[in-house]
Amino acid sequence: MKSKKCVVIGVSGGIAVYKALDIISALKKQDVDVRVIMTESATEFVTPLSFQSLSQNMVATDMFAEPKAFEIQHISLAQKADLMLIAPATANIIGKVANGIADDMLSTTIMATKAKVIFAPAMNTNMYENVIVQSNIEKLISYGYEFITPGSGRLACGDVGVGKLADVNIIVNKVLEELNKATKKQDLKGKKVLVSAGPTIAQIDPVRFITNRSTGKMGYNLAQEAKDRGAEVVLVSGPTSLENPKGVKVINVNTNDEMKDAILEHFHNSDIVIKAAAVADYKPKEYSTQKIKKGDGDLNLVLTRDNDILKLLGDKKTHQLLVGFAAESNNVIENAKKKLEKKNLDFIVANDITAKETGFGSDDNKVIIISSTGEKKELDKMSKKEVASNIFDTILEKR
Ligand code: CTP
Repeated sequence: MKSKKCVVIGVSGGIAVYKALDIISALKKQDVDVRVIMTESATEFVTPLSFQSLSQNMVATDMFAEPKAFEIQHISLAQKADLMLIAPATANIIGKVANGIADDMLSTTIMATKAKVIFAPAMNTNMYENVIVQSNIEKLISYGYEFITPGSGRLACGDVGVGKLADVNIIVNKVLEELNKATKKQDLKGKKVLVSAGPTIAQIDPVRFITNRSTGKMGYNLAQEAKDRGAEVVLVSGPTSLENPKGVKVINVNTNDEMKDAILEHFHNSDIVIKAAAVADYKPKEYSTQKIKKGDGDLNLVLTRDNDILKLLGDKKTHQLLVGFAAESNNVIENAKKKLEKKNLDFIVANDITAKETGFGSDDNKVIIISSTGEKKELDKMSKKEVASNIFDTILEKR
């Protein structure tokens, strides 16, 4: 089993070649195995030796150079790659790949790889905007290749416009994100996962509502994790300020009722259902269609019980694996166990909402996963992304 993740960086010739050195350096810091292929023209800008020193690997340039080991280099790099990044990508390499030309080490490797290939173009504005280049880019995107849009500014040739290699940080983050996906286990492939996240709101009048504290981060991370592990994911979300997880079907709702309807619509069809939403348990008995005017005295608001969505699901459950969360401020384990039983869950993820560093809004969480068969897994404090990963590991172990 190979340990490090491998990124093959294709460097094609342009003034931005030197920036590829920063990309390599940043990836090496993340313990990525970086292999470099340079086109002949790239070597005119920066010597292969610089790339070799930073990547700590031999740099491939010539297809017909004597192999260092008995392997066909463009095939072996194509197979080794978990991801390929072409940076800077010239109009020439984009044009070659778009039209099936494979006549040097870089173009043959791109042709031979099954890994995802990301292009980060850099060229003169007029070249970038040229219809031929644009149609080559569109064609490659339609085949599943990805592009990181170049930045705008003053270019090396003096022209001002779009065409600068995108910011190195943007490129590195994109590579790490895609690498994570590409090397992730696909143990949820074929599974349908339904997640709820965020708060719900209960309207008092047209301008006022009551709600629960919840940023939605835990549920969004669960949805993204499930998607990255190959599942088909539906996320039912109350109002949040988060960006939608990529590749996930997001249904936006406001009220408890809306969340219940959306969840029930997808419940029968789901294999794993995780309710991370902070659902409002009460709503005002009467909704005032007019804004309630203030008086001098107190205002009494009568609240009525709303649906316990998770309890409904527990009652209806057939084949679904049902996971709930328990937000507790005291007797965490005991209270969580009661909820697990009452709502007929397979697992409950208990967290102490009074904990300072992992409470509401935090990027971290510290949870205990309790199963219906009595096992308890207490996790250390970790990012919500890692918690999400641990939750799926735990529930899949039990299947
Ligand atoms: N939940 C739900 N519908 C509700 C309340 C909670 O579906 N009306 C779900 C939550 O999404 C969570 C679990 O039930 O997965 C437990 O939520 P929590 O707020 O901890 O508990 P409650 O059931 O509301 O109980 P209490 O308020 O007494 O702590």
